[in-house]
Amino acid sequence: MKVYCFKIEFGRLVAPILTLVIGGNHESSNYFSELPNGGWLCPNIYYMGRSGVVQFGGLRIGALSGIYKPHDYQKGHYEQLPLNDSTMRSIYHTRELDVFKLLALNSGGNNANGEARQKEKNRLDIVFSHDWPQGIVNYGDKNKLYQVKNHLAQDGDDLGSPAGMLVLRELKPRYWFSAHLHVKYAAIYPHPDNTTTKFLALDKVLPNRDFLQILDFEVQPNRQQQQPQQEQQQQQQQNQQLKLQYDVEWLSILYNTKSITDNHKNHYNTPLSRDLFKNLYTDEDLKNIDNRFIEINKLRQSIDDKNHDNSENNESVENISNHHLEIPFNFIENTHAYDPSNPNRMDLNFIYPSTYENPQNIVLNNLLDVVCSKESIPINIDTLTKLDTETYRKDLQDHTTPNQQQQSFNNNNNNETTTTTNEEEQANQQVISPKLI
Ligand SMILES: [Fe+2]
Repeated sequence: MKVYCFKIEFGRLVAPILTLVIGGNHESSNYFSELPNGGWLCPNIYYMGRSGVVQFGGLRIGALSGIYKPHDYQKGHYEQLPLNDSTMRSIYHTRELDVFKLLALNSGGNNANGEARQKEKNRLDIVFSHDWPQGIVNYGDKNKLYQVKNHLAQDGDDLGSPAGMLVLRELKPRYWFSAHLHVKYAAIYPHPDNTTTKFLALDKVLPNRDFLQILDFEVQPNRQQQQPQQEQQQQQQQNQQLKLQYDVEWLSILYNTKSITDNHKNHYNTPLSRDLFKNLYTDEDLKNIDNRFIEINKLRQSIDDKNHDNSENNESVENISNHHLEIPFNFIENTHAYDPSNPNRMDLNFIYPSTYENPQNIVLNNLLDVVCSKESIPINIDTLTKLDTETYRKDLQDHTTPNQQQQSFNNNNNNETTTTTNEEEQANQQVISPKLI
């Protein structure tokens, strides 16, 4: 994945299919930090943020970025660009704040009468994390695992992230996918309510390694808007062009924890109370958010029709409601792409810092204000302007000014990964060689 992104982020290839990614300990964390709540890295590659939830074809997909390090877990997001030798590592350590946001999925969402939401209906289908949930090794064939990777036996039951296991146990997703330990491993975690989470970890992306697994999932009508029976055929046609969608519940969590996030910047441990992440919204709030999206899309549609003199082809409200939650591809290039033909940009150990705030993050924050605010914000052309990343596009400045410290592209020199062999390290170095791009 790392290699794949490396080529793609710099504009030399296009991902053939929609790909969701999270941060681990070998990513360009400085770029990811521009999009704390996720966004497009390039066409067809969507970053899930520090933690995040999206929907695709009715599947509800959650993610937790980073690796677990206890000494940083309860710190805030204090790191600032340019990163130094310490923060270039701490920035990808999983934080309690982002875990609690995920756990809020299961502790909020009461309806107006205070009744708990139906858990099964809203259950996550897939969650993926970089490091393994702690102790998941006990629910597969660990003896066989230790034959291949005997050093993993040293950690015993402690192997993996306690934060990941907390999320797994509370949210009970149907599937959980991880990486990090450079080995394929399958396990089935049994929950007390007789549901299970099927866990799968895959190996590194290297020749003759188990780095790819294809799983089939039944695509459902979008569960956020239950489709009437007569629209199922139409839905099947639309499934041919499924798009990534916002998860309304997740947007509500982001909005209602924004002040916590903004104030949680300490570089020392600052434990958070989980009570702050409970009962953040009601079903009525979620319905209102959904309606705001429909309003936005109706306005967009009417403007589009006027511009194209297409007033007779107005889309019905029902059709709009089929795609009003689509995450638009609103990527804006806010830094230079790597260009090996430019002699000033030949040092592969460095990439260029972004020259201005990522418009995707500005727009997402604007979107949260517009759709989640309890106040009735008018939806007009001015609103649409604030939801368009083009509004925030700026000219790229030259990146070579001396006061711009260039960031390491990948933290290959860090020692926070698992043991890799010399052979693996050589392979790593080969794949990032410009000759192979
Ligand atoms: Fe890793």
